[in-house]
Amino acid sequence: SIPTNYYYTDLNEIKRRYKPISKFSHKGTQGHVLLIGGCFGKIGAMVLASQAALRSGCGLATVFIPKCGYEIMQTATPEAMVIADENNYKITDINFAIQPKAIGIGMGIGQENETKEAFYHFLKNNLTPLVVDADALNILSEHPEWLELVPKNSILTPHPRELERLIGTWKDDFEKIEKTRQLAQKYQFVILIKGAYTLIIEGKNVYVNSSGNQALATGGSGDVLSGMITSFRAQGYSAVDAAFLGVYFHGRTADIAMNDMGYEGFIASDIIKYLGKVFLELK
Ligand code: APR
Ligand code: MG
Repeated sequence: SIPTNYYYTDLNEIKRRYKPISKFSHKGTQGHVLLIGGCFGKIGAMVLASQAALRSGCGLATVFIPKCGYEIMQTATPEAMVIADENNYKITDINFAIQPKAIGIGMGIGQENETKEAFYHFLKNNLTPLVVDADALNILSEHPEWLELVPKNSILTPHPRELERLIGTWKDDFEKIEKTRQLAQKYQFVILIKGAYTLIIEGKNVYVNSSGNQALATGGSGDVLSGMITSFRAQGYSAVDAAFLGVYFHGRTADIAMNDMGYEGFIASDIIKYLGKVFLELK
């Protein structure tokens, strides 16, 4: 097998990759994010992802959700634009007339058959770089031939169970990383292995994230991360840089918040609240 290079991602590495927003930027130049997901009972995943995207610097955010989420989204995230599926409970037809710079798909999307079909038709027509998360990953595991339809330089964000469905079981961390690296290289994806010390896998490189703590072990934390990474991708960062910044900043919010509260008191929306403080550290 090909030798694997390991790197540790710290603040210096982040500062090297981070590009401050220009004085003359406007919402049209800051990137338009489209987030696709949600189903009855899981619209919160999309609320979190949309707020995380907006608080990470994108210029515009549109969400595509089932109809039951319309008022929830417009109330919880007035900054976001909403396109509603004709179905109340689930996504059945992914159909939009905007041209986003990056698309995040899968947060709370569920596994209904019609949603799977809608995802397939979306993939067949889509050329925009993706961030693929949660049940969208599980659907790809069920139909691995659809991986061919995911554009190169897309980012996959599995947690360990989602990764296992994608690559099968592993006997140790080396095999886990090797199998993930092979998948990433085959399709030219960037793939995360989420957990304490999240890994970012790109080509033969493995980046080990240095930020974050157990306060992030709370529902919705992954949905926030997907919104952030999609936002950076829409702002023009490469797949690996968007993953890099997203994972590091996500973790940093939990590190900084621990000055104000304990692990137990921290919930996913606190990641979003502390994002502004994280950007201050880059000065
Ligand atoms: N230390 C540091 N970071 C952690 C730790 C820890 N101990 N535990 C979790 N995290 C981070 C992970 O690195 C990841 O970024 O929190 C995030 C958790 O993401 P997910 O596991 O995807 O959790 P979440 O998305 O909130 O779960 C909600 O989405 O993916 C589906 O099946 C999942 O139903 C679940 C739903
Ligand atoms: Mg998740």
